[in-house]
Amino acid sequence: MKRAGLEAILADMTISEKVGQLLQLAPMFYKGTLTEGEITGPMAEMGITQEVSERAGSVLGSATAAEMMAIQEEYLKTSRLGIPLIFMADVVHGYKTIFPIPLAIGATWDVALAERMADISAREATAAGLQVTFSPMVDLVRDPRWGRVMESTGEDSYLNSEMAASFVRGYQGDATKLAENHEKIAACVKHFAAYGAAEAGREYNTVDMSMRELYQHYLPAYEAAIQAGSKLVMTAFNVVDGVPATGNEWLMRDVLRKEMRFDGVLISDWGAVKEIVNHGTAGNAAEAAEQSLRASVDIEMMTTCYLENLEALIADGTVAVGLLDEAVMRILELKNDMGLFEDPYRGLKTNPERQKVILSAEHRAAAREIAADSMVLLKNEHAVLPLATEKRVALVGPLAKTQDVLGAWSWLGDTRDAVSVEDGMFAQFDTVDVAGAASTEHITEAEIAEMVRVAQNADVIVLALGEASNRSGEANSIATIRLPEAQYSMIDALHKIGKPVVTVLFNGRPLDLHGLLEKSDALLEAWFPGTEAGNAVADILSGKVNPNGKLPMSFPYTTGQIPVYYNHLSTGRPADAADAQEHYVSHYLDIPNQPLFDFGFGLSYTTFDYRHLTLSSDTISINQPLNISVTVKNTGNIAGKETVMLYIQDLVGKVSRPRKELKRFEKIMLAPNESQTVTFQITEEDLRYYKPNLDFSSDPGDFKITIGTHLEAKFCLV
Ligand code: GLC
Repeated sequence: MKRAGLEAILADMTISEKVGQLLQLAPMFYKGTLTEGEITGPMAEMGITQEVSERAGSVLGSATAAEMMAIQEEYLKTSRLGIPLIFMADVVHGYKTIFPIPLAIGATWDVALAERMADISAREATAAGLQVTFSPMVDLVRDPRWGRVMESTGEDSYLNSEMAASFVRGYQGDATKLAENHEKIAACVKHFAAYGAAEAGREYNTVDMSMRELYQHYLPAYEAAIQAGSKLVMTAFNVVDGVPATGNEWLMRDVLRKEMRFDGVLISDWGAVKEIVNHGTAGNAAEAAEQSLRASVDIEMMTTCYLENLEALIADGTVAVGLLDEAVMRILELKNDMGLFEDPYRGLKTNPERQKVILSAEHRAAAREIAADSMVLLKNEHAVLPLATEKRVALVGPLAKTQDVLGAWSWLGDTRDAVSVEDGMFAQFDTVDVAGAASTEHITEAEIAEMVRVAQNADVIVLALGEASNRSGEANSIATIRLPEAQYSMIDALHKIGKPVVTVLFNGRPLDLHGLLEKSDALLEAWFPGTEAGNAVADILSGKVNPNGKLPMSFPYTTGQIPVYYNHLSTGRPADAADAQEHYVSHYLDIPNQPLFDFGFGLSYTTFDYRHLTLSSDTISINQPLNISVTVKNTGNIAGKETVMLYIQDLVGKVSRPRKELKRFEKIMLAPNESQTVTFQITEEDLRYYKPNLDFSSDPGDFKITIGTHLEAKFCLV
């Protein structure tokens, strides 16, 4: 429909109809509903009448085509102006074919895989009737106590930005063609802004940082998603500089809409409009509604501050009707961009065959490949891995048999579709004896005894352990980043047997691996791999896939070391610059400064040698980019993928600059003895950073390059 048509509809709408468009409800409130939908927040009594739901503008958390078509059909029967509903839900790492959690997608360092994951998610989700996904979540994270680190792609703004843009491209394709391309879905980047910096990792807690830190590290990935065309943005629950994001006019109008040039739909997070009252910056729901509309929040998710107050606020002149009209128009434009006025079912009625793509063999194969490439080999003493498939394997532990391998935010998936580690190992290894445990939290003596018994006759012990899916994700923060305590006695009992122990770790966050690492000969970080988990694990353990994941987030030495991240500042007394005897340096008495495992760490079954670091010049300028080349050789006898990472250090700045900053990365595949020269180009723009006055610029001076584990070079910006 042309814009004039939308303007005519807007002109025809009553205030009551306009306010209704700003309301988003779960499916249970609509005629035609089959389920209550995905409930991901508090469900206070909302007092929603049938009349209200017939005016509401959108639905969140419906799961099936049958339900969404039924709701739409019933709704349009009573819609005076024929404005269709739009259906949104959290398709975060897959719809029915569940992919690894986003933190694991980050560990692939493969933007093409990320885009493919999003594309498949869109195909399945749109076949089920969804039109918007509340993804990508691009909150930068440095605190694994926070349960939602599983939903992020990690601690670095450059990696997160590259991943964010890839997710959006995969979901939306060409964003100008969403009306005709029914297999693409609108993306909603979240949570704006800086939700990942919750103090102490406690869910929904206060966020507080300098403006410079916000701009330097936390905002870039949202901007990358917006530049990639994300149709929606979702507000964060937290305050930004003391003002709740959802009612923060500066953050939303000045930063998001003016500086980042976002002109799409801004949706609140669940209940976040009303929670402005809890934050104490609104005395009541009417003030919360006023603040949110002034901040240009277009849709209120699952609370009714707009519904109950906007008409009165406009009638008494507190709020100009223009603010309401601009919100309604953005919603109408979104619906129009999705083609909903022409076809409220986006082809579902005419092409029900589309649902056959859901959980197709092709999609499962992609999930298996991506899961294997997301796994990170953290230890492999004496090359105990890969395992010959003739070896007699004792597969033990609480994650050996379970299909709870999808991870949080997989509510549209079904664990019954998941391949357990047991199934995956049975398919590839000749002899596998299994002894599991019913829970990750409580492991009985009898279960341990059975694990020990099956281990006695085995050549190798494969210990599948870790967290349950629901120990990470929203509202699942933990204060101590260790395994559930019950697992340590199991680990000790198995270690005492004296056979090789290959540990496969399932978790939604970095953990303190003491008590496990030293008792494992090999340790594979599997995260939550999704529907094809067991096959992907077996692919790695058998060597069918050479592990190639790299950590997107540091693994702290212990909880007390949090926050620990790779791009930290030098401090005035860096421990690694002083002599080892010097006491008065930045250090701990009881642990090292370094994390247990660094950002970017990951082993392979082969080895790679980096040589011939060459620069096209020893200077760079605004008109002269710099080419940086390095030759990488596979010096082992197994083909493997390697992620080549370029880090830069600004040696002197107007503010203290990080010891290293990721600026480029490229994943390459090398056959045994094969070499490849990788060339990165950087420009002066890559050297810009935020000054205290938020000026974003570079300064002339020296820079250090680091590639691989030891190659360094310097250049100068002139
Ligand atoms: C939740 C989450 C948000 C999600 C929304 C809808 O509270 O914070 O990420 O998209 O509600 O489910």
